[in-house]
Amino acid sequence: MSHLRLGSIAPDFEAQTTAGPIKFHEWIGDSWAILFSHPDDFTPVCTTELGEVARRSNDFTARGVKLIGLSANGLEQHEAWIKDIEAFGEKVAGPTRVKYPIIADKDRKVATLYDMLDHQDASNVDAKGIPFTVRTVFVIDPKKVIRLTISYPASTGRNFDEILRVVDSLQIGDKNRVTTPVNWKKGEDVIVHPSVSTEEAKTLFPEHTVHLPYLRTTPLKV
Ligand code: BEZ
Repeated sequence: MSHLRLGSIAPDFEAQTTAGPIKFHEWIGDSWAILFSHPDDFTPVCTTELGEVARRSNDFTARGVKLIGLSANGLEQHEAWIKDIEAFGEKVAGPTRVKYPIIADKDRKVATLYDMLDHQDASNVDAKGIPFTVRTVFVIDPKKVIRLTISYPASTGRNFDEILRVVDSLQIGDKNRVTTPVNWKKGEDVIVHPSVSTEEAKTLFPEHTVHLPYLRTTPLKV
């Protein structure tokens, strides 16, 4: 099994999904992608998460990010579960349409390839005792490079505001020689990258402020 790190190429695979069969790299194309796993269909935390991702999908599309979910169940189960996700989402939070594909990974082929299986929660297993996945997130850039990984336990729903925030930071950092500070949000001041010399900073970021010799902040028009 490959050891996936930031900077690794996301392994390619073929899979059945609720939007038809895909070849992962071909499906990503020139976009960014977020692959996120769920322990199991028809489970409460997952039902809230998939609805939230559906409602936020325009936010991801606006950033050129394609979404794809995964859980260790078959297509028929996924299709039936989507009806529940949409009905529950509609009831608690407004219009909820799951349009992004969900991978049917009953045999854990993709989960194993991406090292998503749960090794710590003995209750997160199927009827045969085979582990389900944890809540993993992979943010993958258009070159298919893994730029972020997060793993949450089955018991804790993820914060998709944070995932959008990281995408914003990565995309801004790819286009400009900047980094982003603690709790940064899009539109707020950024940090001039340490590799930018004092002379370069004057031309690249004329409005920057030097707080410490190694800590310079600047507004950034995006
Ligand atoms: C849930 O989605 O609620 C869940 C799934 C598997 C284990 C624990 C919780």
